[in-house]
Amino acid sequence: MASTAGTSGPSPQVPAHIAIIMDGNGRWAVRRGLARADGHRQGVLALKTIVKAARARDIRYLTVYAFSTENWRRPQAEIDLLMGLLVEFLASEVDELRAQGVRLAVIGHPEELPASCQGALASGLARTAQGQDLVLTLALNYGSRREIVDAARQLAEEAQTGLIAPDEITDQVFSQHLYTRRLPDPDLIIRPSGEWRLSNFLLWQAAYAEIYSTEVLWPDFDAQELDRAIAAYQRRDRRFGALGGQESQA
Ligand code: IPE
Ligand code: IPE
Ligand code: MG
Repeated sequence: MASTAGTSGPSPQVPAHIAIIMDGNGRWAVRRGLARADGHRQGVLALKTIVKAARARDIRYLTVYAFSTENWRRPQAEIDLLMGLLVEFLASEVDELRAQGVRLAVIGHPEELPASCQGALASGLARTAQGQDLVLTLALNYGSRREIVDAARQLAEEAQTGLIAPDEITDQVFSQHLYTRRLPDPDLIIRPSGEWRLSNFLLWQAAYAEIYSTEVLWPDFDAQELDRAIAAYQRRDRRFGALGGQESQA
């Protein structure tokens, strides 16, 4: 399957699951002499655009890093603004998402977000529960190390109570204890704003993801940029530890 994604052969497939680290809002604003808040507002518009574009391109899973476990280190006013934008996004977009066949999901610890976010999230999840075409997962108060530690603790408890034997803990079983248990691993991870780091995002799940970094800042990331990322992905030879497309036929 992976070996067909070269420059020749059958038409390359779009990635089933794209994950995006929505980074660069602050720099976008600073470069324009605007407040960081304006960058975050523009970042929400980019998200709306990319959800539509992903839907139109038959992407089945889109996961976006919206707030990390480390983002609590930011000034309280910026945190409050981000939480407010989340509520606004849900209030204004849920009908549209529903109409597009999108199902919302959340990974992380959303229960620790301010109370104002809880109702909007619960209603967004419930009102899009029937969506069949695209799963839009918001990573909120998400940290990959915390996710892995949560899974380890849960497995330790299951082992202690005799529900599972230590030698039954395989990588599949481990994956089933992560917040992403209902999602396939990401095929493509996009990081705008020129950084080459994962910043505690999907560390386990990224084992064989293709990574794409672009200098474009998230608020400027549009459908054309998405197509560039997908085209780059389609030129990669995903080997999964085996031999590549050419060698395996030799
Ligand atoms: C990403 O943009 C948004 C969040 C982390 C919530 P940043 O706010 O990190 O933007 P930069 O990195 O400062 O440009
Ligand atoms: C990653 O961006 C988190 C989100 C986009 C939500 P950061 O801006 O927090 O990452 P670092 O601090 O540059 O690694
Ligand atoms: Mg950043």
